[in-house]
Amino acid sequence: MSIATLLLTGTAWAGGERTFWLPPQASTIAPDIDRIFYLIYWVNVVFFVAMMGAVFLFFFKYKQKSPDQKTSAIKGSHTLELIGAVIPTILSVVLFVTGFRVYVDSSVPPADSMDVRVVAQKWKWDFYYPEAGVTSDSLVVPAGENVRLTMSSKDVLHSFFVPDFRVKKDVLPNRYSVVWFNAPDAGEHNIFCTEYCGDGHSVMLNTVEVLEPAAYDAWLTEQVAAASAPRPGPGIELGELLYKEKACNGCHTADGSALVGPTFKGLYGKSEALEDGSTVTVDDDYLRESIEAPAAKIVKGYAPSMPPFEGQLTDEELNSLIDYIKTLE
Ligand code: CUA
Repeated sequence: MSIATLLLTGTAWAGGERTFWLPPQASTIAPDIDRIFYLIYWVNVVFFVAMMGAVFLFFFKYKQKSPDQKTSAIKGSHTLELIGAVIPTILSVVLFVTGFRVYVDSSVPPADSMDVRVVAQKWKWDFYYPEAGVTSDSLVVPAGENVRLTMSSKDVLHSFFVPDFRVKKDVLPNRYSVVWFNAPDAGEHNIFCTEYCGDGHSVMLNTVEVLEPAAYDAWLTEQVAAASAPRPGPGIELGELLYKEKACNGCHTADGSALVGPTFKGLYGKSEALEDGSTVTVDDDYLRESIEAPAAKIVKGYAPSMPPFEGQLTDEELNSLIDYIKTLE
């Protein structure tokens, strides 16, 4: 398919494929939303061409032929004025009515929706399945089912965005916001945070995995089993669990690559240059201080953006985290 065809037709109308303008349509509401996009797009194309055409036409048609040529007297036209008022009014009403209907459809979850709670924090998403009593660090849903997300934030404004579903809504502290979708086919889609929320905003990514109902049931059973397994006692295994649960992994990798904060790989025992020009050796004391009061010593080249964890971890948990970091040589 040529670029021109993509630009002009928007095949999303027909097949749900990716187009020049839009990602693939992976939810039941997506075709309705795209139809409005293309309606507005075409209204704009028609008027842009008509108005620019008139501008250029008049350039040449009414060009002053000689320095002393006078323009002809302009008389008013009720017909033109009426057309200029009626057409935009009709268009506005049509755009409002079509837009409002889809807005209501996309805002009000069907009564038979299954529930998932979404909790946003700097800088990760967590998903809670209230009926099954499980937590997941990525969103997994059954194909062909209405899913209602009730979302809240632990800290600042975030925004939940799945382009393939045409679903986007702010996630706020101290208030719940709700979105819903129905993804008819199995597949994987990106989740973005689309409200600037600090240093880690651009890495606040996740995925929604749509599974066939049988595969979804199997996944849920597995999660329930994992949730009822005993929690590890203090030690490396608990540390690794906390590394994910407390979202350390949102900013600190275990594989040596750089994110918002320094990587944990090879961290222990290393000597680290600080913003104030001094140097520290990374030992248990330094790690503990950096978890509880991160602003005390800022590593050179990094912003003081980590929230303090003082009072949020028991001594056993702090020790376990440090022991886990030690293993990442
Ligand atoms: Cu969360 Cu941007």
